[in-house]
This record gives sequence, structure tokens and C-alpha cells, in this order.
Amino acid sequence: NGTVRVNMSNVDSPLQIFVRAKKKINDIFVEIDDYVKDAVTFMHAVSGENGIATAQDVANVEAYVSKVQAIREVLKRDHMKVAFFGRTSNGKSTVINAMLHDKILPSGIGHTTNCFLQVEGSDTDEAFMRTEGSEEKLNVQSVSQLGHALCASRLQECSLVHVHWPRELCALLRDDVVLVDSPGVDVTPNLDQWIDKHCLDADVFVLVANAESTLMVTEKNFFHKVSTKISQPNIFILNNRWDASASEPEYLDQVRSQHANRCVDFLSRELRVCSPKEAEERIFFISAKEALLTRMREREKPVSSPLLADGHQVRYFEFVDFERKFEECISQSAVRTKFAQHSRRGKNIAGDVMAALELVYNSSSEQKAAKVEKQRVLQEQLSAVEEQLTAITRQMKDKIGRMVESVEHKVSLTLSQE
Ligand code: GTP
Ligand code: MG
Repeated sequence: NGTVRVNMSNVDSPLQIFVRAKKKINDIFVEIDDYVKDAVTFMHAVSGENGIATAQDVANVEAYVSKVQAIREVLKRDHMKVAFFGRTSNGKSTVINAMLHDKILPSGIGHTTNCFLQVEGSDTDEAFMRTEGSEEKLNVQSVSQLGHALCASRLQECSLVHVHWPRELCALLRDDVVLVDSPGVDVTPNLDQWIDKHCLDADVFVLVANAESTLMVTEKNFFHKVSTKISQPNIFILNNRWDASASEPEYLDQVRSQHANRCVDFLSRELRVCSPKEAEERIFFISAKEALLTRMREREKPVSSPLLADGHQVRYFEFVDFERKFEECISQSAVRTKFAQHSRRGKNIAGDVMAALELVYNSSSEQKAAKVEKQRVLQEQLSAVEEQLTAITRQMKDKIGRMVESVEHKVSLTLSQE
């Protein structure tokens, strides 16, 4: 069907930090699983009538089997999550499509995003969508079909639709990145609900701003709310539609530094989520539309408008630079928040099971010591008896000796008198 598979060797992507850490921690939990199961087998062997372990000891250790299982399940589903926000029509859906190297999400006129869309990897070759709370998989062959399906399902703006896309078609999806598109922050009064429902577990936020205007109060408000609920959120700001600057090259630098200063100010002084220096590394001037077009061409997909404005290459490089910094940030943040917790719990479980085994070991040692002590007392008693016996025997011997002597004496006396 003309799909181009992405190059599978992606070993130097910063996302590999997460991918490798996930594999490693997975392997460790396989070992913990084995260890816990061994402990259960051992407990069974030493329990029962006259056993050392009680039924409670066995149950205690057995409970860890399901705990480890639950963590392994969560671990399997762990991913890196990035959420995109901004005013309507700023190009959020287009940015996501450009990052996925394909037109996956509906965008543009008549395709206003009207609910939350979460794009994630599908383990099968098929693309499908799933609405919130339903297990039904709706097949999606194309963007327009996805658009229709979304319109037809009459969703609430706050609801979530999962779009599963074949992993092999997008490097980001293959490496466990999940991308969340949102309706414009200007169209809802329910920002708090949005944050509670969709943002608390996001590793990175991308504010898609419009370089043709300035940061809007609604956009700022949204991130003010986010930063009250999440400590130190990772926020990137994309000044999109920067291709518009091509028509006024004489003002380019001036406009750029004005936007950049405001964005740095917003992140560092208003939100206080990073230092001004760090903020500079989080602000980019791009054209998502051009980036998407460039990538569609690379994949030899049919595209309409072939003309790109002056400076499109520079804007494209800046887009690629954004992606690199974004990948570094998201994979480090996800490793820190997700895996630190897993490894702490894994360590606790291993410690708890060892403590349970030690308890059984100690009680068996105590029992052994008690038996040894009993034997020692018995032995002492026996030795005492033995000594007494020896003494008595000696006395008897002496007595008998003396009796024999006196008898002999009497006999000899009698004999001599006769
Ligand atoms: P909503 O879903 O309605 O909130 O909008 P959105 O933020 O998802 O914007 P979308 O990606 O649908 O883009 C809106 C329109 O802007 C589309 O027609 C895009 O082609 C266009 N657009 C997006 N990015 C750029 C850009 O960098 N430059 C230009 N010139 N147009 C762009
Ligand atoms: Mg959209």
C-alpha cells in the first residue's frame, strides 16, 4: 500500500536511554520474579506438619508473586508521553504529523481537533482507533476516515481517543513515545479537568504558539495551571508558522528576538520552571507545515503545494534540532519518574522476601539450638551417673577385696590353730 518503513537502526537516538533502561529493568524484574517463586517453593517445602514455616509465612511470601506480576504489567505499558497545547489553529496537529513523518492526524480547515487524541504504537500492522471506555477497535485506513470517525462519534472535548498506528511506520512510536493532541486551549472553560485527566503523567509539554502573533493569555493561563499541579514540568515552546517571516526578511531578527525574550521570560520568570539559560534551549522557531511537506517528499508521498518559502532549510534544521532536544528531555525525564519508582519497589520486594526467609531460617536455627541444648543436658546427666557408677564400683571392689582378705586371714588362723 505504498507505505515506507522507517529505518530500524535508531541506535543513537536519545530515546534509546529510555528503551534500554526499560529493557534492563524488565530483565531485573524477570529475575525478581524467579527469586520470589523460588522462595515460595522453598516455603512450601519447609511448611506443613512439624514444618518450620507457618501457613502465615507461606501466605506472606506468596503475596509477592502477584505484586511482582502487577509491576511487570505496568512496566510493559510504560511509555514516554508528550502533550501538545496551544490556541486553536496554531498547528498542533501539523506539528505531531511532522514528528511522525506522515499525515496521521486530521488538520486544517474543517478538521479542528475536538477531543484529545493520543497517538501510540500498534503492535499489529493495522491502524485502528479506540474511543474512551470502549474496547472496540475501529479500523482506520486513512486520515480522512479518521476525521469522519471522529466527527461521527460526537465526543466531548475532554474525552480521549486512542489512535494506534503501526510502530514500524514511525520511529517515535517504535521507541514508545505517545503523543497527545488537544483541542485549542481557547475553546474550553474546563482547563482544570483537562489537566487532571490528561496532563498529570505527561513527561513533556509542547506549547505550539503562533509566531505571527504573541503568546496569548489563554495559553499562559493554561501553563500557569499546569505548573501549580506538576512540579517543574518540562515545557518546550514552538513558535510555529515561522515561514511567514520569509515575506519580511528585514524584520526577521528583530521579531525573533522579541518572541524569544518573551518566551524566556515566561518560562523562567513567570512560571519559574527553569533558568533563563535553560529556557533558551527550549524555544524554537519552526514551520511544521514545511517540515511535514519535506518529510512527505522524502517518503515519496504525493503532496500538493511544492513551493517552499525562502529559508525553509534553516527552519527545517531548527525543527530537527527541536526533535533532538525533545528526545533527550523526554527520555531522561521518563526514566527518572517512572523507573526510579519501579526500582525502589523491586528493591523493597527483594528485601521483604529475604527477611521472610531469614525469619524461617532463624526459627529453624532456634529449634536446632534447643535440641542441641537438650542433648547436652542429657549427656551431662549421663556422665554424672557414669561417674557415680564408677565410684560405686570402685568402692565395691575395695570392700570385696577387704572381705576376701579378712576371710583368707580367718581361714589361715583357723588352719594354724588345728
Ligand atoms: P485545532 O485542532 O483546530 O486546534 O488546530 P491545530 O492547532 O491542530 O492546527 P492544525 O495543525 O490543524 O493547522 C491549522 C492550519 O494551519 C492548517 O491549515 C495547517 O496547514 C496550517 N499550518 C500549520 N502549521 C503551519 C506552518 O508552520 N505554516 C503555515 N503557513 N501554516 C501552517
Ligand atoms: Mg488540531
